[in-house]
Amino acid sequence: MTAVGIDAIEIWTGKLKLDLAETFAPEKGEDPEKYTKGLGLHASSFPDAHEDIVTMGANAAKRLMERKGLEPEDIGRIDVATESAFDNSKPVSTYIAGCLEQVYDGDFHHANKGERKFACIAGTQSLDDAYNWIKAGRNRGRAALVVATDTALYARGDPGEATQGAGAVAMLIDEDPNLVELSTEQGYGSADETDFLKPNQQFPSVDGKRSMQVYLARMREALEDFESVSGDTHPDDFAYIPFHTPFPGMVRKAGLLGYRHMIRDTPVEEELAEEIGFQPREENFEDRESYEEAIRDHMDDLSSTEAYRDWYAATVEPTLSISREVGNWYTGSVHIARASALKTAAEEGIDLTGQKLLVGSYGSGAQAEIHAETVADEWEDEIEALNIDDQNDARYDLDFEEYEKVHDRHNHDKTIEMEDFTVPDGEFVFTGRGRMNERL
Ligand code: CAA
Repeated sequence: MTAVGIDAIEIWTGKLKLDLAETFAPEKGEDPEKYTKGLGLHASSFPDAHEDIVTMGANAAKRLMERKGLEPEDIGRIDVATESAFDNSKPVSTYIAGCLEQVYDGDFHHANKGERKFACIAGTQSLDDAYNWIKAGRNRGRAALVVATDTALYARGDPGEATQGAGAVAMLIDEDPNLVELSTEQGYGSADETDFLKPNQQFPSVDGKRSMQVYLARMREALEDFESVSGDTHPDDFAYIPFHTPFPGMVRKAGLLGYRHMIRDTPVEEELAEEIGFQPREENFEDRESYEEAIRDHMDDLSSTEAYRDWYAATVEPTLSISREVGNWYTGSVHIARASALKTAAEEGIDLTGQKLLVGSYGSGAQAEIHAETVADEWEDEIEALNIDDQNDARYDLDFEEYEKVHDRHNHDKTIEMEDFTVPDGEFVFTGRGRMNERL
């Protein structure tokens, strides 16, 4: 059977940076460590006034196509995943294809285009759609382009403001992939939830604390569903576990949940029992509340064991390096987590070929998906081609007044003139006239 998966990726960050410790915390009267240690974030990538989901997605896709030597005729499908769409009818992929057609001789008239929406999990859903399209044999030898692009902005004063971010991840899905092969092993946890909504509004309405509980509940369900297909998982089965990362502090909780689940009834649990006891069993408690309290205590104990700390440092921590510097990218977030892990492995000279990743995607509203991937032969070359560190270093460091101004501009404050912002050359930009991002 032909392997299908991610052949290559490109990451495009918003051009501005909001430093959380230096710039944000003093204005909010908060201890900087609330952000750097509590949430685990150093900075947010912020979109400049000439950037939006189309320009960032098109710039990522153009770089990907150039690097891989692709022409429009090589792409049979373009899907965009976003929760920042501005058009309820025309998919963002048509805008992105329109941008790309400005720089290629050919066009994408033959390509199927669409837009996927289910909050942050939509990037992974688009990946699944592309995989299924190729596996069904409908691709006629062509590859799929999946673009996850978002401006993850919150109202000023909302607790989510500290977790903002903006950027795009373009992924080429193809047969015999260079980066990772997707597997058929997949599990879901899905329920109708209202903790994070954007009904016809620019910024989301969020019940932040509840959203964290929903994330963990759906992720646990997805892991159980995954195991119904794959059989029991063990923490050492996977080289890395990239999770959806709204902020690294959330992943700290997801990692602990995953580890507790995976060691249950295994020799690892038996070994740890001498130190912290066995996991509480629900049947031994009179009510759910006392069981949950016992689980919380157990997890606190588990999180301080050497076994857990070593596992987390090796398997989850490396997935967070890019996210710490850029914040939440919604649909792109789990895909930069995968890239962070592979990038760390490349930098540390770890040979990953043939090793497994367990990818935990999540979208509010709410759904989690867990699936397995196998790292492909050419992964290192693909990862070394990324220039995300250079892009991050080149971002303009906003002061707080500048941040407020550009934030207002993204909230459609027309009193702030576009002329006040510098327009970069050589890339797609939003000019404000229609949506012709044509300045190259
Ligand atoms: N030093 C070290 N740590 C500190 C600290 C200090 N001085 N002050 C606080 N902290 C810690 C807190 O203990 C807490 O950590 P724990 O949760 O591990 O206890 C952490 O810093 C955050 O502090 P608060 O809980 O007080 O922060 P908050 O209430 O202001 O905001 C939030 C947190 C509610 C998650 C908020 O950022 C938010 O609403 N974010 C948007 C929603 C979100 O991202 N939800 C995640 C799940 S939903 C999802 O994943 C989809 C998505 O992409 C949005």
